[in-house]
Amino acid sequence: MSKMDVVMVGGGMITHDQLLPSMYQLQRLGLLGDIRICALNTPPLKDLAESAEINAAFPESSFTPHPDWNEVGPDEKFPDLFKEVIASLAPRQLVVVAVPDQLHYAVLKVALEHDQHVLCVKPLVLQYEQAVEIEREAYGKGLFIGVEYHKRLDDRSLLARKRWQAGEFGEFRFGWAHLIEPWYYRDSNFQNWCTCENTDMFTYIGCHYVDLVTFITGLRPVSVSVYGIVDQYPNGNDGYLWTDGRVVFENGGVLTVFNAIGYPNEAPGGNSQGMVLYGQNGLERSTIINHSDQYRGVKHSLAGGEKVYHEPNPDFMQYVPWSGEGYRPVGYGFRSVEFIVQEAARVAAAGDDLSARQALLDEIDAKGLVATPKNSSYNELVMEAGRKSILAGGREVVIEYGEGAGVAFREYS
Ligand SMILES: NC(=O)c1ccc[n+]([C@@H]2O[C@H](COP(=O)([O-])OP(=O)(O)OC[C@H]3O[C@@H](n4cnc5c(N)ncnc54)[C@H](O)[C@@H]3O)[C@@H](O)[C@H]2O)c1
Repeated sequence: MSKMDVVMVGGGMITHDQLLPSMYQLQRLGLLGDIRICALNTPPLKDLAESAEINAAFPESSFTPHPDWNEVGPDEKFPDLFKEVIASLAPRQLVVVAVPDQLHYAVLKVALEHDQHVLCVKPLVLQYEQAVEIEREAYGKGLFIGVEYHKRLDDRSLLARKRWQAGEFGEFRFGWAHLIEPWYYRDSNFQNWCTCENTDMFTYIGCHYVDLVTFITGLRPVSVSVYGIVDQYPNGNDGYLWTDGRVVFENGGVLTVFNAIGYPNEAPGGNSQGMVLYGQNGLERSTIINHSDQYRGVKHSLAGGEKVYHEPNPDFMQYVPWSGEGYRPVGYGFRSVEFIVQEAARVAAAGDDLSARQALLDEIDAKGLVATPKNSSYNELVMEAGRKSILAGGREVVIEYGEGAGVAFREYS
């Protein structure tokens, strides 16, 4: 199997924390060829190249930056450079989309125009119609798009899905989930894009648990209401930085999701997150799934650093010693990227045979482990409904599926 070259668009936090280490490891293992990274300007690229954490793990690895900090100044911006960089790839390589939510669509379109397979961070796009357009275009060209909902590759989610599919949890009744990001995110580049007019905490991070409930139970969301509290970032921009979302599913079950940039910097976890789902087995008994996704049984107290007491998550993304030089990334953050890249490579290996590639896409869609535009576009409907709701102060928005699928405010007679 030939190695796919990679163009990553976006060099921010998720690229640093999860995507680039995963790509380097897959490159090390012989699955990927050259890695190029394109960002809006040079500072994030320089930070990536100089990251002590990444360099300790991958002393032998490097990427080609676009733009190159040796050629242009740090304040110069290149919003369209990704088009040229993607165009420089041979057909059916891999484009990784890791730009802010509202830019995914534009990068996806360029990737498809140039016949590229894609790994896209969640959410795929912010509008259902765009997801359908992307799905049709990709399928017509036999191109794979994997949406990186990494919580799906956490073994506890896979176990819950397996047991739910086997009927062991009965019927979903209700549940609650939360994912509260640390306070210091307010000081990051988030303040430039995660603002009221673009997105909100429910859209940005709540989508993981909404996706997970459908992934586990197989139920589609049918209505959404999101109440958001506006807070100011240090740069003066406003964001919906505390959100309370309520999602009703097609069987009448309901999930409440709390999201925020509000977890104290001094608190022990990297963030606070978890999920509880209640089910019912007829009139006989109830069932529970209870996931503590933050505290996973590990306690550290370190000699230095900000936190005296720390509860690291060993399951998401950690570097551990291995047989080679440096460290290797482990956890569902790595496994999720690995799985998507393997699926892309499987489709790429079908070469010029369009119908063989499409048959593989059908198989991947039907299996439902990797989120694809076809099997997960309920997420785009939820995002659209969530945005409509939050901008209207939390009004309930209903989702219609099928021909003419879309969202609308609930009407009361
Ligand atoms: N848990 C998750 O799945 C998870 C976590 C974090 C982020 N994300 C997603 O990843 C995406 C990026 O988030 P982040 O935290 O890395 O954001 P970030 O603000 O740290 O980084 C954004 C990057 O995009 C680049 N960029 C912006 N405009 C560009 C353009 N026109 N051309 C090329 N590059 C451009 C910036 O230079 C920057 O490097 C978002 O869609 C976010 O929702 C997912």
